[in-house]
Amino acid sequence: MSNDTTSDKNSFKLATKFIHAGAEPDPSTGAIMTPIYQTSTYVQTAPGQHKGYEYARSQNPTRFALERAFAEIENAKFGLAFSSGVAATDAVIKLLVPGDEVIAANDMYGGTYRLFTKVFEKFGIKFIYVDTTNVSNIEQHITGKTKLIWIETPTNPLMNITDIAAVSAIAKAKNILVCVDNTFASPYLQNPIDFGADIVMHSATKYLGGHSDVIQGCLVMNDQKLRDDLYFIQKSCGAVPGPQDCFLVLRGIKTLHVRMQRHCENGAKIAHWLRQHPKVKKVYWCGFEDHAGYAVAKKQMRDFGGMMSFELKDETIEAANKVLSSTKLFALAESLGGVESLINHPASMTHASIPREERMKNGLSDSLMRLSVGIEDVEDLIADLEQAIG
Ligand SMILES: Cc1ncc(COP(=O)(O)O)c(C=O)c1O
Repeated sequence: MSNDTTSDKNSFKLATKFIHAGAEPDPSTGAIMTPIYQTSTYVQTAPGQHKGYEYARSQNPTRFALERAFAEIENAKFGLAFSSGVAATDAVIKLLVPGDEVIAANDMYGGTYRLFTKVFEKFGIKFIYVDTTNVSNIEQHITGKTKLIWIETPTNPLMNITDIAAVSAIAKAKNILVCVDNTFASPYLQNPIDFGADIVMHSATKYLGGHSDVIQGCLVMNDQKLRDDLYFIQKSCGAVPGPQDCFLVLRGIKTLHVRMQRHCENGAKIAHWLRQHPKVKKVYWCGFEDHAGYAVAKKQMRDFGGMMSFELKDETIEAANKVLSSTKLFALAESLGGVESLINHPASMTHASIPREERMKNGLSDSLMRLSVGIEDVEDLIADLEQAIG
C-alpha cells in the first residue's frame, strides 16, 4: 500500500493544488468528499486475502487521502500523518540511535525543546542548540556524529529566519538530514523541499486545520527509504490520527490559500500599526524591510504571514498582563493559525518549558506577547489592540 502522489498534481498552481490535494472520488460510491472510514479493522476473505487494508493503525483510506494531500501541497512525494505535531517530531528523532548528534535552533517551539531535552537526551541523543540564522554557527558544530539539523523558520515566537537552501547545501555535502518545522509559514508561504530540505514537519493543528478544532502532525519527504523508515515508526509507535481528524484537516487544506491571503493582509496592517504605536518598543515580524532575515524571507517565502510578537516600552510583566487580559477579540490562548485571532504570552504559556535563563539568552523576554492574527475585519482587530494597549 503506497501513498506516493502523482507527479502531475505537483505542477498545479497554489489554489488548484490546495482545493484538489489528495482528493479522488470515493471508489465505492463516487462521493466527492473523502469518506470518514471510521473502522479499526478490515474483513479478509481468507487469511492474507484482503484489499490492501489489514488494520487501521497501519492503513486507513481517509488518512491515506490526507497523506497524499500533505505531499502534494508541499511538493513532495510522500506524506505521513501523526496524532500531533510533537508526535511527528518524535518520529523523526526515532530515526536516530544513541550517540547521534542533532543541531537544532536555539529559538523554536518550547514543546520541541522539551521533547529533545527531557525525553530524547536520556536515550543518549545529543542536541546542540545554535543560532541557525547564521549558517556558519551550524557548520562550526558539525561533527562526524551529526545526523540531523532541525530548523524552524520563521521561529516561534521571535520570527527569526534561517536560509533553508544554505543549510541544506551544507548538510547534503556531509550526508546529514535536514528537517524544517514549517508550521508558522504553512505550505502556502513556503515549501522547504524546493530548497533542498529532506523532511518537512507541520503542526497541522495550526494553519492546515485552520479552525482550532483538531490536534494533528505531518511529515513529508521525497526519499523512498526515509518514507519507509518513518512509516515503520508511525505504525510501530502508533501515534496515528483518527479518521475524523484526518477529514477535518483535509477540509481545512481546501481553503488554506484564501485564509492565508487574509492572514497575510491583516498581519501586515497590524504589524505596521503596532510599530508606530507610542507605547510599543519592538515588533517582531519578518515582513519589515529592516528585519535581519528580510532578504532570506523574501527569497524563500511568498509573503510574510500573520504571526508576530511585540514588546511594550514598559517592559514590566504587569504592563504585559494588562494587555493580555484586556483584549476582547484576540483570545488569550495557546496555539495559532486558526481563523480567529489569538494573543499569547510565550514566557508563561507556549515556551514555559524553556528555562528562564535560556529564554532570556535567546531574546525571549518575560514581557513578549505573541499574536496569531486571524481573518476577521482588520479594523476590528486594530480597535481591540488599541483599547487593550491604551
Ligand atoms: C512551531 C510549532 N511546532 C510544533 C508544534 C507542536 O504541535 P502540536 O501542538 O500539534 O503537537 C507547535 C505547537 O504549538 C508549534 O507552534
